[in-house]
Amino acid sequence: MMPASVYIGLMSGTSLDGIDAVAVRFEPHFQLIETHSEALPESLNQRIRGLLAPGDNEIDRLGMLDLELGKAFADASNNLLAKCSLSSADIQAIGSHGQTIRHRPEHNFTLQSGDPNTIAEHTGIMTVADFRRRDMAAGGQGAPLVPAFHNALFRSTETNRVIVNIGGMANLTVLPANADAEVLGYDTGPGNVLMDSWINEHQQLSHDKDGDWAAQGSVIPQLLEQMLSLPFFHEPAPKSTGREQFNLIWIQRMLVLLDQAPNNTDVQTTLAELTATSIAMAIKSHQLDSAEVYLCGGGSHNKYLQQRIQTLLPGYTVATTAALDLHPDWVEAVAFAWLAKQTLDNLPGNMPTVTGASGFRTLGAIYPA
Ligand SMILES: Nc1ncnc2c1ncn2[C@@H]1O[C@H](COP(=O)(O)OP(=O)(O)OP(=O)(O)O)[C@@H](O)[C@H]1O
Ligand SMILES: [Mg+2]
Repeated sequence: MMPASVYIGLMSGTSLDGIDAVAVRFEPHFQLIETHSEALPESLNQRIRGLLAPGDNEIDRLGMLDLELGKAFADASNNLLAKCSLSSADIQAIGSHGQTIRHRPEHNFTLQSGDPNTIAEHTGIMTVADFRRRDMAAGGQGAPLVPAFHNALFRSTETNRVIVNIGGMANLTVLPANADAEVLGYDTGPGNVLMDSWINEHQQLSHDKDGDWAAQGSVIPQLLEQMLSLPFFHEPAPKSTGREQFNLIWIQRMLVLLDQAPNNTDVQTTLAELTATSIAMAIKSHQLDSAEVYLCGGGSHNKYLQQRIQTLLPGYTVATTAALDLHPDWVEAVAFAWLAKQTLDNLPGNMPTVTGASGFRTLGAIYPA
C-alpha cells in the first residue's frame, strides 16, 4: 500500500462546466498523480442555475441540491480513484471547494454547496470543506484563496511572476521575485462568464471555442468604455466578484445604453476585449519592471483571448502554467487539495494581503471519514 500522503482536490467553478478532480502528492515533491473531469448532469446544472439569483422556496431547493451535489462530488472522487487504482485508504483527505451559489463579500457572506458529510460518507475519505468563511469571519473577502498555493508552487527568486486564473471570473496573483515583497492577489473581473453567456444566448453553445467567434468581429468602443467604467474595475484590492455582478442581464443593461443596436458578433469581440483589458490593466497597475505572466483555467485555451492579453502586455511574456509543469486545467483543483493539507497541518490557507483578513488563518472544516 502507498503511504497515505495523497490528497484529492475537487473544484466546480462559476462556469458550471463540470467537476474537476485531482489526486496529488506534495511530499517529498509535488506530483500530479491523476486527473478526472466530470460534466455536471444537466438536471443538476439547471437546479444550480435556478438558485444563482433570488427566487421562491430557496431553502428547500438549496437543501436538496446540497445533498445531490455532495453525491456528485463523491462520484467524481470515486471515479478519479478508479482511474488510478487507488483506494480510499490511500487518501489522506479530500479538499472540496463546493459550488458557489452566492458570493456577497459586501455583506460578509459566501455560500458554497455540496454537502461534505455526503462526500465523506460516499467516499470513506476525510473531507475538508467550507474554506472561505473563516477568512470572511476574520474580515476578509474569502477570495481569492489560490494565491497562497500559487506562492507555494510557482514563486521564483529570479523573475517576477503573475499567475492569472481565467475561470468564470478572473483572478491574478502577483509573485514578486524579491522574497521580502508582499504577494498580492484579487479578482480582476469577468473571466469566461460573459463570453459564455453571450454565445449561449445566441448560438446555444456552452462556450466560444478558441475564441473563434470573438475573433470575427470588431470591438465596439462605446460598449467597452461603458463596461470599463464599472467601479469594480477601479477599486483597489482586496476585491472579489461573481455572477452577482457579471451576467447576461448586466450585458443587456449595458447594450440598451448604446447609440446604435449592435451586431452580436461585435458584442462577443467586445466581451473578450473587456476580459483581456481588465486583466492587462490590473497587471500593468503593479508597475513591475518585467514579469512572466502564466495563464490557467479554461480561458487559457481561448486562443483569441490569450493573443489579446499578449498584445495588451508588450514587454511581458505570456504563457500558460504548462510552462511551469502544471497543466492549466488542474491548477484550481490542486489548490484545494493543497488547502486541505494546510488545514490538516494546522497551517494558514489565506493571505491577509490578498483577502484583507485581519491575519493568517487555518481555513476549512474537517468532516471525518
Ligand atoms: N477551447 C476553449 N476555448 C475557449 N474557452 C474555453 C475553452 N476551453 C474551456 N474554455 C472556457 O473555460 C471555462 C471553464 O473554465 P474553468 O473550469 O477554469 O472555470 P470555472 O469552472 O469557472 O472555475 P473557477 O471559476 O473556479 O476558476 C468554460 O466555461 C469555457 O468558457
Ligand atoms: Mg470548471
